[in-house]
Amino acid sequence: MKHTKVKDLLNSTTTLQEVNAKGWVRTFRNNQFIALNDGSTINNIQCVVDFENTPDETLKRITTGAAISVIGTLIESKGAGQKYEIQVNKLEILGDSDAEKFPIQPKNKPSLDFLRENAHLRVRTNMFGAIMRVRSVLSFAVHNYFQQKGFVYVNTPIITGSDAEGAGEMFKVTALPFDNTPRTEDGKVNYKEDFFEKETNLTVSGQLEGETYAMALGQIYTFGPTFRAENSNTSRHLAEFWMIEPEVAFNDLDDNMDLAEDFIQYVIKYALDNCQDDLKFLEGRLLDEEKSKPQAERSEMALLEKLNFVLENNFKRVSYTEAIDILRDSTPNKKKKFQYIINEWGADLQSEHERYLVEKHFKCPVILFDYPANIKAFYMRLNDNTEPGRETVRAMDILFPGIGEIVGGSEREERYDVLIEKMKALEIDEEELSWYLDTRRFGSATHAGFGLGFERLVLFVTGMTNIRDVIPFPRTPGNAEF
Ligand code: 4AD
Ligand code: MG
Repeated sequence: MKHTKVKDLLNSTTTLQEVNAKGWVRTFRNNQFIALNDGSTINNIQCVVDFENTPDETLKRITTGAAISVIGTLIESKGAGQKYEIQVNKLEILGDSDAEKFPIQPKNKPSLDFLRENAHLRVRTNMFGAIMRVRSVLSFAVHNYFQQKGFVYVNTPIITGSDAEGAGEMFKVTALPFDNTPRTEDGKVNYKEDFFEKETNLTVSGQLEGETYAMALGQIYTFGPTFRAENSNTSRHLAEFWMIEPEVAFNDLDDNMDLAEDFIQYVIKYALDNCQDDLKFLEGRLLDEEKSKPQAERSEMALLEKLNFVLENNFKRVSYTEAIDILRDSTPNKKKKFQYIINEWGADLQSEHERYLVEKHFKCPVILFDYPANIKAFYMRLNDNTEPGRETVRAMDILFPGIGEIVGGSEREERYDVLIEKMKALEIDEEELSWYLDTRRFGSATHAGFGLGFERLVLFVTGMTNIRDVIPFPRTPGNAEF
């Protein structure tokens, strides 16, 4: 007999004579009621055991975490909270789970820290089951959005020789031995003898390769793993994260902002429409978590309300220069409550500033644009008519409440001469990026794109507060377990 998913059993339109369910025991009460979960839904199916006719030996093995198979009748449930339950006729223990040893015991309310250390088992909790299903649905929504619009999905390389962001925060890839490393005459590592015969690293962004494809296919997107060796041990940074990078030929910065806003609203709506049970559960979790916080630190909106708010309100578009004025005049700046005081135009914005703008000042998602050229990457388009010393580029960052930066993007510098000059000023190797420069040598045109940090999106949608809790096996400084 084939087994049926718990989700389908719970959604059944009639009672059924004989069904088979397989899953893991969440709880077992009164020697009678098994809460069974198989991961297909946040909801458990109650399986009622005829304990008088079940050997004691078997009853003892129905423990939290055990894998079981039950065959029985799907009947209307007399208990509250569920429409159907299974009256068990036959029960088989597929895999025991020693109650003394299984670390995930619901009654102990394991902490998030403890669960992180048990990342291979935490997905057996309601919370992580819900998060990971939402994550999966969101990634489907990402593909759906771009595919419906005719974007081509491009797989850019994971091993590359280029530093797309010019920030130098890269993990090296090498097959050279650490002892007895081949050296050049001047004592440097001789990468000519390495696997790729050159220096390589894990990609920090697929953008540059993505641009070359956009300049042929028109509209492309990437969705893949990205690596950054930045030593930021924060609740928003991972060393390995997934990024979505659309790139569109003939789009300018305004088109880019429109695309990013529409895209984010689409995927959030998709999750709202397709993950109702999980999101309701996560909303309850967040309310619970916030009970232990002082009133002032609690969110003003519950999770679903917050998600709907993002759908129903336009993102506020504000130039960097306007933002600096707002920040300079803000109370935390005047009272020196910011760790980094904003005095001058040109200052880079820290997450405290971004969060002030979004959470306190505008109280909605914000798109900041036209940043000072010298705090942004080399490939961003220089604005026409900027004052000398106050050059700005056509950059945009999207800032979200509770998250900070969720998207970074720009219109690209499509003018060969301007780009070369910028690269020279930043001492970026023209030889190494010669292929990239070909996009500007042959048939160059206005184009724009952005990168969305997938885990930051999942954080926002699930209402979790630490990025380590929205990716199955997080990689952060000092942690590459599993
Ligand atoms: O702003 P970033 O560095 O932009 C780029 O990489 C561009 N090449 C994107 C483009 O224009 N195609 O990164 C983009 C986004 C950030 O806004 C953030 O959401 C996320 O990627 N991100 C991280 N997420 C988790 N952990 C990290 N260490 C992250 N660094 C960036
Ligand atoms: Mg950025």
